[in-house]
Formats: sequence, C-alpha cells, structure tokens
Amino acid sequence: MNKHPLARYPALRLRRPRQSGWSRRLFAENQLSPGDFIWAIVLKDGKGVHEPIEAMPGVFRLSPDEAVKAAKEARSLGVPALALFPYTDKQGRTPGGEEALNPDNLMCRAARAIKEAVPDIGLMADVALDPYTDHGHDGLLREGEIVNDETVEILVQQSIIQARAGFDIIAPSDMMDGRVGAIRGGLDSEGLQNIQIMAYAAKYASAFYGPYREAIGSAGVLQGDKRSYQMDPANSDEALREVALDLAEGADSVMVKPGMPYLDIVRRVKDEFGAPTFVFQVSGEYAMIKAADASGWLDGDRAMMEALIAFKRAGANGVITYFAATAAKILNG
Ligand code: PBG
Repeated sequence: MNKHPLARYPALRLRRPRQSGWSRRLFAENQLSPGDFIWAIVLKDGKGVHEPIEAMPGVFRLSPDEAVKAAKEARSLGVPALALFPYTDKQGRTPGGEEALNPDNLMCRAARAIKEAVPDIGLMADVALDPYTDHGHDGLLREGEIVNDETVEILVQQSIIQARAGFDIIAPSDMMDGRVGAIRGGLDSEGLQNIQIMAYAAKYASAFYGPYREAIGSAGVLQGDKRSYQMDPANSDEALREVALDLAEGADSVMVKPGMPYLDIVRRVKDEFGAPTFVFQVSGEYAMIKAADASGWLDGDRAMMEALIAFKRAGANGVITYFAATAAKILNG
C-alpha cells in the first residue's frame, strides 16, 4: 500500500496533468532530440548510387558522393554523427577478409570524402570482418571455428586504418574477447589516443539482423550462425560482465544491440555502470515498423517515435538508427 496520505484518489488524480498538450510536455520525464541520434548508413561503391534495399524501404545503399550529401543533411538536421557500413558483393569477399585492411577500401574512401566536405560531423566505423569474408563471419574461420586471437590482431589493424582515414569512433561489433583492449593499445601506439571506442559490448545473436545481411551483401553468404561469439538472448547477467570488461579495457562508451527486445539490458547496464550507453535500433526493428506501416497496420511515424523515446526511458544516452534523419525532421517540426 502507498504510505503517503495524499497519494490517494480522489485528492490525487494522475490523469489531471495529462489533460492538455502544454502540461504533458511539462511532465514529460524524457526528451528526444536530433542530438540523440547516430545515423546508420550503408555504403556501396560507385558514383551517384542510391540503391534501394528491399527489406528496408526508405534506406538506400549510397556511394561515397551520396554519403557526403547525407552527411550535409545530418549536419543541417542537428544529427551529430553517422555510422557507416559497407556493402561488398560476392567477388569482393575472401576467406581472410583482406579488403578490411585496404587503406583505400570503400569505408576509408567514404570517410575521407565526408570529412573533407563536412569536417564537423562525427564518423563511426564498424569494426569486424563480416562485410569482407566469403563465409560472412566477423572473424577468421578455421576448421569450423571463429578463431579469437588471430582475428583480434586483424581488427587492431583495421581500426588503425579506419582512424587514419578520418573515423572518430571505432566501434568493434565482432564480439571477440579482448578486442577493446587490443584496439586501444594499437590506436595509442600510433598516436591515435583521441580516437574513441564505442564497444558493441552486449551484442546478441539475433534474428533482427536479417535485413542488414541483405543490405551489406552477407545474406546468401553466411555459413552457419554467430552463436559461438554473439550473446545468447536468454542472458542478462552476462551482459553486465561483457560491459564491465569492455569499460575496463578502455571503451569510452558501450552499446546494447538489438534495441527494443533488450530494453531491460539497457536499464541494467545504465544503472550498474552509469557509463555512456548507446542502443542500436537494428535493421529488423526498422523493417518491422516499415512493413506494418506499409500494410496500414500501424502509424509508422508514431511507432518510430515511441520506440525511440523508449530507448531514452530505458537509460540510453543515444541511439544508432536508420530512422535518424526521418525522426530528426519530425523533431525539428
Ligand atoms: C556485424 C554487424 C551486424 C550489424 C552491425 N554489424 C550484423 C551481424 O552481427 O550479423 C547489424 C546491424 C543491423 O541489423 O542493423 N559485424
């Protein structure tokens, strides 16, 4: 029972402040702003490329020149940063994912072009081998195993190359053990101590990545699944151990991924560590809202805004989302 003597109907009516818009605004416990978003962008080689992704209506694969336009749009909307992901066709993929270490690869060329045109936008790089391997895994595959330590050595080199190309935030999404510390050490030894690390700390083996695999060209490619390195959706305590490790190894911020099915994890991580905590509203979450909207089954814009405020309510400092520009436009009126 509530002990406060006034906390009782009819003296207390919780509906009272909900009666008008101005009052609902005053009583709102959380706010969204364009400054909360990191805009997830998929890259493709070429010029003037603006190619639809079937499973993600409204998201396009962009060539570097088109990504520059997106960066300008982000800046004018007040979205502080972009997260880039590269599409690679089958021919561009190898067992060792060597293209990851090419200083002139698609990611690096796009970063240089964006930084030249829009120097004040933040750029986040996904670190993992899955866009470049012919088996679609985030690490090296040896006799059915994704080998950890050898993969980490390559990820360190990949991070250094990306940082030199102009990325501000290195975001390892591979879930290898020990990679955050190794990347921090590698960056520091190259004089790149101001480059941030956002660790995909609690990243789950999720069906909600489905549309992303189409987006980057991994869909028909992936052999097996990623359950030997990504987390079991049944687990929650383990997420705290992952986050603790990554923070101890030098992560500036941590991420929970996917978003909506894992709001409990976001809240636990924020409460336990009080560290800058981000959430990735992944491709499948985007696709579900868009598909239901297209069928007339719900109002897509409202569902989008509701999902985004839910991340803030759960404790996230910001959201990596494909909706960033759309949501920012609504917020900017
Ligand atoms: C892989 C990676 C994935 C995503 C970002 N980086 C997919 C995966 O782990 O298979 C998912 C993004 C999304 O679904 O929007 N390194």
